[in-house]
This record gives sequence, structure tokens and C-alpha cells, in this order.
Amino acid sequence: MDPKAVKSDLVLILDYGSQYTHLITRRIRSLNIFSLCISGTSSLETITSHNPKVVILSGGPHSVHSANSPTFPSGFVEWAQKGGIFVLGVCYGLQLIVQRLGGQVDVGQRQEYGRMEIEVEKNLGVFGNKKVGDKQVVWMSHGDETVKLPYGFEVVARSQQGAVAAVENREMRFFGLQYHPEVTHSPEGMDTLRYFLFDVCGVSPGWNMENVLDEEIRVINDAVGPEEHVICALSGGVDSTVAATLVHKAIGDRLHCIFVDNGLLRYKERERVAETFESDLHLPVTCVDASNEFLSKLKGVVDPEMKRKIIGKEFISIFDAFAHELEQKLGKKPAYLVQGTLYPDVIESCPPPGSGRTHSHTIKSHHNVGGLPKDMKLKLIEPLKLLFKDEVRQLGRILNVPDAFLKRHPFPGPGLAVRVLGDVTEGNALDILRQVDEIFIQSIKDAGLYDSIWQAFAVFLPVRSVGVQGDQRTHSHVVALRAVTSQDGMTADWYYFEHKFLDDVARKICNSVRGVNRVVQDITSKPPSTIEWE
Ligand code: XMP
Repeated sequence: MDPKAVKSDLVLILDYGSQYTHLITRRIRSLNIFSLCISGTSSLETITSHNPKVVILSGGPHSVHSANSPTFPSGFVEWAQKGGIFVLGVCYGLQLIVQRLGGQVDVGQRQEYGRMEIEVEKNLGVFGNKKVGDKQVVWMSHGDETVKLPYGFEVVARSQQGAVAAVENREMRFFGLQYHPEVTHSPEGMDTLRYFLFDVCGVSPGWNMENVLDEEIRVINDAVGPEEHVICALSGGVDSTVAATLVHKAIGDRLHCIFVDNGLLRYKERERVAETFESDLHLPVTCVDASNEFLSKLKGVVDPEMKRKIIGKEFISIFDAFAHELEQKLGKKPAYLVQGTLYPDVIESCPPPGSGRTHSHTIKSHHNVGGLPKDMKLKLIEPLKLLFKDEVRQLGRILNVPDAFLKRHPFPGPGLAVRVLGDVTEGNALDILRQVDEIFIQSIKDAGLYDSIWQAFAVFLPVRSVGVQGDQRTHSHVVALRAVTSQDGMTADWYYFEHKFLDDVARKICNSVRGVNRVVQDITSKPPSTIEWE
């Protein structure tokens, strides 16, 4: 979609690598204000091209004193002054403002990490709606400290230790918060952001999914025109389903979807997904059973990355054949391809030093199944590329996509191939895994826990252990259960089930899945583990 057509003022976030930067963007969007996040070291030209009303300089793990610490471009302050732009620095962002405008930030005099009380000293700026002496709990996370303010700035709040907690220069429209208002550990943080954006900056809102839907449909229609055809590969997940439903609403049956059964799907997945696509969403879908092709190519392969490559390549050749068939049938090549790319995949940020990240594109590239054949020359339609996952779900709801789809746990593109450790074609590993996974997931649903878990699944281990079943010694398979909580899959914690629940599930698995005599639970977080075992 075209960000310029959004009916809302824009709050632009310059990202300096804080783990909370995306959260600020999402919090602001929850106020129906459009917000975008770009790299903190973007050029002045890039920043101004967005035409923001407010710029927020995010937190970050850097110190303004380190060599090469990221900063805003020269000319930024002058541009903000001339253009009537409001600027808010958060944590590192505040220290950048102080240092760049001639104040002083000292290293490590008084460190503040975690819960802290602050007191309003002046009812100005972000605290214009508070009384002098008002106290509130906030979340701090800083080693450096402001010791001298730039000319024209005032302290409006201090921490219980006396450190500067909030500053402002009303005339310049520059503000700063040393704490993180975006996290829930700052209980009044959202109120402060709301007051700042609406009352201090006078931002007009207008970002909501109804508007986004109208705008998307207009943009898709404009791009595709009245003649062209579009293809889309459905995975059965939230993103591709919502993207396809949206494009279908815009251009109708000139959208052609393909759903590939690669033999690595979960229990009855093809049937369940196909049924919903047809009867609930009325999407034109061609289901292709390519399990033999995939599984024969995976025979004997144990290396996880090799599995991913083989699956990606095979997927592309099927996709290519689909495009070719359509060309024969329609008498013209489909010109566009829909992809369910989300905003976190396209955000460029300033990653923390030593994280090994360049920007988010790089982190996730191995997660995309395959890629696109070079000679397909399809133009991309990415209708969700400005949206976060929760916004995609909201959009899906407006489009009447059933909750069963919208609330589904993420499922990796290579499917069960990365959940059967080692050779996926060995014995009846896939079959056993499907049965175990189904019991585990169904039990989670029956216990009402599905929506509180980010992702849950079973893993088939390529080892056998000794057991005793019906007075007989068995030498059967071990399966692992994994359930995690997470915000975005980048970090995760294992989910705490009650012992009774685990006991019931383990019993049920051993009693009903032939070939399994031992069930273990994975209790590692990410890091140090990853969510998937391969
Ligand atoms: P990891 O295992 O890297 O997983 O902690 C993070 C999230 O990504 C999913 N995942 C994948 N998704 N292709 C995908 O489409 C992949 O190759 C892949 N590997 C992991 C994983 O399920 C989790 O949600």
C-alpha cells in the first residue's frame, strides 16, 4: 500500500537498536496513529521523504561516547525546526539529543536498571497534564546519565535517585524521556505517549484496519489493472491466507492460488485447509499433491540446511509448472505474485553491536521457503508489508477469515522435515510424528491453552529407548514435546504446563501411538536453543 495515502499523521521512529523499538511503533498504531520505523542512521533525505509530524529517536544498547555510536544525520535539527516537527528521544534517544545539542552525558555515574520511581518537577512537556510532585513507576534501562542540559532545555522529571528522567525544550519542540514509556512495566507510559502525541503534538489519527482495507483494495486494483492475472502460493498460515483473501476481494477470480502438499504437512492438514479455503473463503485454489516428489528428494538427507534447500528448490519447480499451466489455460502469463511479507521482515534497524545482525531481512531470509525463480519475472504484490502480525489478524477478521486460521500457531515452511530429526523418510517417522503432534495439539486446545501458547509441536527423535509395554520389552521411539511463549519468535521461553496435563498427554501418546514408548519435554528457552530443533 502507499504510505502517503494513509489518513493519519505519521510518527516516524528512528531505530537505534533497542529491543523495544517495534513495540513503540505498535503502541502508537494502537492509538490509531500511523507509525513507521526506519534505521536510526537513515539519511536526512530518507527521513524527510516520509513527511512525519513527529520523530521519535529510539533507545538502544549503545553509549553516545562509543566510537561509531549511531546518530541522526547532520541537518536533522535544522530541518525539524524549520518544518515544525516534534522530536521525542527515548532513553538513548534522549542522550543523543542532549549530546548533539551541546549538553553533557556522563558514563556510568548512576546506573538505573528496571523498576524506578520518578517525580514530576514541572508540569510541562510530556507531563503537562500532571501536577508537580506527582510520582509514577517507570522502567529504566541505562548506564549513561545526563549531567548538563543543552541551552534552552529544562528538567521536567527526576528519578528517585535524582537522575534526569524527562526533559523538554518547548520552543524547539524537542522532548526526552530517560525511561521506556512503551513497556508495560511503565504502567502510565501509554497515557504519557497518548498525551504527548495528541495534546502536545496535535497529531491527527486515522490509522485503522478498515481504512487500510479500502486503501489496499484501491492500490491493488490500480497496480494490477483490469486484465492481468495474479498468482499466490498458500501455506495454510495466517499471512498468505489474509494476503490472498484481500487480493481476491480486489480482483476476484483473476487471482489463482496454489496449495502444495509436500508430504510434510500435519495430520489431515491438506483436507482441513482445502475445506476452509473453498467453503469459508471461496478462494480459487489448486491443491497439488507433490508428496512423492518431495520425499524422494529428501531420502537419506540428514543435514537441516540441505533439507531446507531441497524443499525450497522443489517448491519453486512446482510453482513454476503452475504458472506455466496457467499461461496455457489463460493464453497469457500471470504478471503478479502475491506474498504475505510482514512489516517486521522489511524494517531496517540499527542492530546492537556484536549481535551479528545487519537488518531484519538477513535474519529471516533462511526462513523463506525457496525464493522465486529468476526467469519468472513476476511483479510482487505485498499487501501486508506495512503491517504487524496483530494488525494482519485484525484485517483478516474484517475479511471474515475464520479464527481457526487467524489464531493458528506459526508453522515452518519446510514443515515436519525440520521436526523429524535426521532422515524424514526413515521408517514411519512422519506418520508417528503426525499422530503424536495431533494428540498434543488437541490436548492443548481441549485444555483451553492454545491461545496462550505462541507455538507448540512434537519432535521425532532418531533414537530408540527400552520400555516395557504389556509385559513385553520394547525398543521404540522417543518423542519430544515443545511449547513456547514468544512475541515474535526471535526470543522464546518454554511454556509451563501443569504436571497433570503433561502426565495425561504422555500417557495418551504411549497408549495410542504404536512405536512410541517415551515422551520427553523440551524445557529450554531461545536463546540458547532455537524454537525448532533443526
Ligand atoms: P527458530 O527455530 O529459528 O524459529 O527459533 C523461529 C520461528 O521461525 C520458524 N521457522 C521457520 N519458518 N521456514 C519457515 O518458514 C524455516 O525454515 C523455519 N525455521 C524456523 C519457527 O517455526 C519459529 O516460528
